[in-house]
Amino acid sequence: MDTISFSKETFLHELSQVTSTVELNQFKASYIGKKGIITNKLKELGKLANEERAAQGKSLNEARAFIDEHIRAQETVLYKNELKKKLAHKKLDITLPGAYLSKKPGGRHPVTLVMTEISEIFIYMGFTIEEGPEIETDYYNFEALNILKNHPARDMQDTFYAENTTTTDTLVLRTHTSPVQIRTMQRRKPPLRFIAPGKVYRCDSDISHTPVFHQIEGLMVDKGISFSNLKAVLEAFIHRVFSPQTPVRFRPSFFPFTEPSSEVDIGCILCAGKGCRVCKGTGWIEVLGAGMVNPQVFKNVGYITDLGDFNYSGFAFGLGMERIAMLKYGIDDIRLFYESDMRFLKQF
Ligand code: PHE
Repeated sequence: MDTISFSKETFLHELSQVTSTVELNQFKASYIGKKGIITNKLKELGKLANEERAAQGKSLNEARAFIDEHIRAQETVLYKNELKKKLAHKKLDITLPGAYLSKKPGGRHPVTLVMTEISEIFIYMGFTIEEGPEIETDYYNFEALNILKNHPARDMQDTFYAENTTTTDTLVLRTHTSPVQIRTMQRRKPPLRFIAPGKVYRCDSDISHTPVFHQIEGLMVDKGISFSNLKAVLEAFIHRVFSPQTPVRFRPSFFPFTEPSSEVDIGCILCAGKGCRVCKGTGWIEVLGAGMVNPQVFKNVGYITDLGDFNYSGFAFGLGMERIAMLKYGIDDIRLFYESDMRFLKQF
């Protein structure tokens, strides 16, 4: 083996000729890469006699350290130069928004916004939240709510029926959130004060109906609850979601599970009661159904055994979220909520 003929001067001279980081990498490899001059010599050390090996090894290692140190220093110099050139070429505008801003952050769906806002209003009034299944039995969706088979009230809600393999009772997609009244009353004793927000299903589709929509059910039961409590709670609620000046009207109506029953109208927000297309010239818009819980429902859940027992009383109400969202945001076609059109959704 030749003795090492590494000349620092030659190396430094060669190094000074290198003008780019790419070139520098090749240069470095030619000395201390896998097949570099120094590396090869180090591999051959084993062939030497002990004494010579120690001396050669020492000077080779020194050479390698020298090379490494100078290449590193030069690398920094070249890298900085290259960066400087790049930056001079591509002017950097530090006022540009960061790249992450071009990725649109998600937003809440208008129905979710309204549902959250309404839930918060009731929570503020001391209501808790209850839930129930979307696939219901005929019993909970109808029978227990005093909507008997063959009763014309069944036609008020066009029902989706579900295939049934496990229970003997007919299964339906719940047509309203009222079955949560029954499920909660079976589980708990009065006093009760809760709302039940959720999805409901009806076989219906046009400018103001979609097969899936959202309702919030409300129920308050205790000793001595009266229709004035119902009026006070619902008026307070309407004045919160719309405005304190919104006129509210209770109009007699019918629901099998409430007696007496009422539909609640608000003065048309679009024409301020003068009469327009949205309120069909009446100046009023229906926003919810409500009433005093029918004693038959209390009997069905076991709160009372005799229909003449007025120990407990309560009120219930149900309102459609999409309807409220349409009025709040001035939307004239309910189907817009479910078309996933970004131009629509981005506005909320
Ligand atoms: N469940 C009724 C509907 O969907 C609304 C309602 C709820 C009415 C509670 C009165 C009391 O039409």
